[in-house]
Amino acid sequence: TLPRDLEGRHVVVSAGGTAEPLDPVRTLGNRSSGRQGYALARVAAQRGAHVTLVAGTTADLEPPAAVDLVAVRTTEEMRRAVVDAAKDADAVVMAAAVADFRPTAVAGFKIKKGDDEPTAIHLTRNPDILAELVTEQVPGRLVVGFAAETGDEDHDVLSYGRAKLARKGCDLLVVNAVGAGGGAHHSAFEGADNEGWLLGSDGSSVQLPMGSKAALAARVWDAVAARLG
Ligand code: C5P
Repeated sequence: TLPRDLEGRHVVVSAGGTAEPLDPVRTLGNRSSGRQGYALARVAAQRGAHVTLVAGTTADLEPPAAVDLVAVRTTEEMRRAVVDAAKDADAVVMAAAVADFRPTAVAGFKIKKGDDEPTAIHLTRNPDILAELVTEQVPGRLVVGFAAETGDEDHDVLSYGRAKLARKGCDLLVVNAVGAGGGAHHSAFEGADNEGWLLGSDGSSVQLPMGSKAALAARVWDAVAARLG
């Protein structure tokens, strides 16, 4: 049986990708399946938390039981939903793969092949939702980020993760080890399994062995519950 160590807690989890409109029928986005975020939401609810799951674009997933699901598409929609739900949250876990950029202008009609074919798509940087939560500095609220990193011969995934944790300023960072050359079909992105490290702003690091996304979620909530006390 699972511990009920998140009873009475409100946690917010973001999942999936965000999609930015280019014209009425096209978007720019990514292939995040949402599986890790859904697993985080499901496990937190099983451990007694009130869960708000802010879901962007995902694979065709079964919504977790006993979770408040807020469906969003664009980064701006995700930002509003997360920031709003996070107001009274004890922890926010940003598992979503947020689009870093959006088209500067959205065409009002479908861009056609032909005379007015665009030669470039101009992009504007999206707001960093995680950074906004960290800047708010709500006392007692934990902020957890995710990062997919590939190692190279000079730096291992762990040292990239440490640097990102410091830069982002969050309390915990889950570093997914995305094998170099793993490509878009690597398990961390679309598959059922995941592995990596859980780094804490207190200097802690816990290895997350290859296993199910539910197992990884359990380790994340272990760390969150321990810090919430
Ligand atoms: O810097 P990077 O995009 O690798 O950071 C990833 C982390 O930041 C994830 O937790 C992701 O959900 C979050 N993020 C965000 N808003 C963005 C970009 C990333 O909240 N615009």
